[in-house]
Amino acid sequence: MSNIYSINPQNMQKAAQIIKDGGLVAFPTETVYGLGANAYDAKAVASIFAAKGRPTFNPLISHIADIDFLKNYVEVDERALALAHKFWPGPFTMVLKRKEHNTAIDLACAGLPTATVRMPNHPVALELIRLSGVPIVAPSANRSQTISPTTAEHVAESLGDKVDMILDGGKCAVGVESTIVDVTGKEVFLLRAGGIAKEDIEDFLHEKVFISHGDPNKPSSPGQMLRHYAPEHRFRINVEEPEDGEFYIGFGYSQRADLNLSVTADLHEAAANLFAYMRLADNMAGEKGIAIAPIPEEGLGLAINDRIRRASYAK
Ligand code: TXA
Ligand code: MG
Repeated sequence: MSNIYSINPQNMQKAAQIIKDGGLVAFPTETVYGLGANAYDAKAVASIFAAKGRPTFNPLISHIADIDFLKNYVEVDERALALAHKFWPGPFTMVLKRKEHNTAIDLACAGLPTATVRMPNHPVALELIRLSGVPIVAPSANRSQTISPTTAEHVAESLGDKVDMILDGGKCAVGVESTIVDVTGKEVFLLRAGGIAKEDIEDFLHEKVFISHGDPNKPSSPGQMLRHYAPEHRFRINVEEPEDGEFYIGFGYSQRADLNLSVTADLHEAAANLFAYMRLADNMAGEKGIAIAPIPEEGLGLAINDRIRRASYAK
């Protein structure tokens, strides 16, 4: 029996009730599907980690539907507010200082003095948050170390009945996760490349956005761990000439490609196709594995290269 539900007012009410009652609802956002729970309900938050098979607690993004809500939750300065107005709703997430010691969100924040917030650009996500009346914490709705889901079917394949309800909003338009920036200090740090290009943030702020370095296996953002997004097959990146028998994912016109992220070399189109094509390739590849064409390191190419680099990291 499938727990995938179409979008209608009744199902939206049902989903909001599940959130209020401490259950888990997978819902579409413009980036990837999220596995949502009430941010204030520690037991519900803990069940997210259990469902994902995540070994340790990891801070989660709180999804909100209203910029005004920010001031109850976190410390906001002018810069953070300006960023919120510019990039929300959208694939943009800010790490901010927590307002005060609000113990109800300790687990959602993994005990850190920061809270991580985003307003997704998807009508279903926004409606679910409004109907539930609480911030919804949501990691990507997949089992730990597997490819993030960009359709409701991906969620069902990965989580099955570990989630109470999956709302089907079709295919995610952006296709890679949100960009995460830490704005708690004087300088802005990029913690994860994602759906908003680093250059766009810099152009808007008229300041440099620094890339967060540090030990990639002991990161401040656990999602920066190497080998986070993982196909089963060997996966080679930056490949111009695939070997015989390799399943080849192209970018830009290519006669050899088995699948092409974007024939016209459009990075937005490539990002939207990336995870679905990695899954397809993983299902279709033979023992020689998968190879993927070089992707330019600019705009959304930063996020794409980040994800495929992790996917290529040896088991
Ligand atoms: O697009 C997205 O951001 C999706 C959709 C569902 O909104 N969500 C998502 O969540 O990708 P998740 O949990 O898969 O990735 C969030 C990343 C994690 O790697 C987490 O470690 C990091 O953000 N993170 C969250 N709060 C943080 C904090 N306070 N400091 C540092 N890193 C943080
Ligand atoms: Mg994830």
